[in-house]
Amino acid sequence: MDNMKLKDIEMFWKSVLHSQYFPSKENNSCWWDVTEQEKLEKIVRHLSDPNTKERKKIREILVKNDIYSVLDAGCGVGTELESYKSHNMDIEYVGMEKSNRMLEIAKTRHPYNKFVYGDVNEMPFPDNSFEAVILKHVLEHLPDYRSAVNEAVRVASKIVIIDFFHKLWPFDFRKRHREGFWENWYSKRKFEKFITDLPVSNYEVFTTTGTSRQTAEIYVLHKERFI
Ligand SMILES: C[S@@+](CC[C@H](N)C(=O)[O-])C[C@H]1O[C@@H](n2cnc3c(N)ncnc32)[C@H](O)[C@@H]1O
Repeated sequence: MDNMKLKDIEMFWKSVLHSQYFPSKENNSCWWDVTEQEKLEKIVRHLSDPNTKERKKIREILVKNDIYSVLDAGCGVGTELESYKSHNMDIEYVGMEKSNRMLEIAKTRHPYNKFVYGDVNEMPFPDNSFEAVILKHVLEHLPDYRSAVNEAVRVASKIVIIDFFHKLWPFDFRKRHREGFWENWYSKRKFEKFITDLPVSNYEVFTTTGTSRQTAEIYVLHKERFI
């Protein structure tokens, strides 16, 4: 497969080893389940780094497409907002989350910004409400990506940015840690077939590097023709 790194293969094998077929005790939770305050703050600081390659690429995409309003769907603790603030970007930002705990932390960290409760599969907004909808590191954690992407395309007026924290794969591999929490590796061929059937005029793919040195992939779906 194109641009495959050793790190990608290593991460994939870790997923296989800790899949639903071979569950391990230490690997059945995710960072947003961490209860220890000090540990959580450390993770949040790490994830809020505005200078990662993925964040830099997302900022470039927003600038290039003249985006001034963003829905960050599955916003976690509002880490993406940190990226715009630190670069003085003129963005009207709304964060949406299904986890009340994440929302609470996001609101504490950014008391003057708007965060709402909502499910990416059923976004509580009318059609074309935001110029861009971002799904960053979210689709991998859903049992299926289709309804979330459909919703993002409905709610966005210009573009949808989908940032996969690891590479799309030659086949679907579903990793279920526990009920309601997945870490899936999706088939590139199937995902690209799915997005070409959506009401979008075209799409771009950017390959970059994630925080564990793995390949991360960013898809930009354009509702208007992009030249
Ligand atoms: C890995 S975190 C990514 C957070 C943020 N986008 C970032 O890049 O820092 C995934 C987030 O998606 C949220 N999430 C998972 N399923 C969701 C759903 N169905 N609707 C809304 N948020 C969801 C989780 O609560 C979690 O905060």
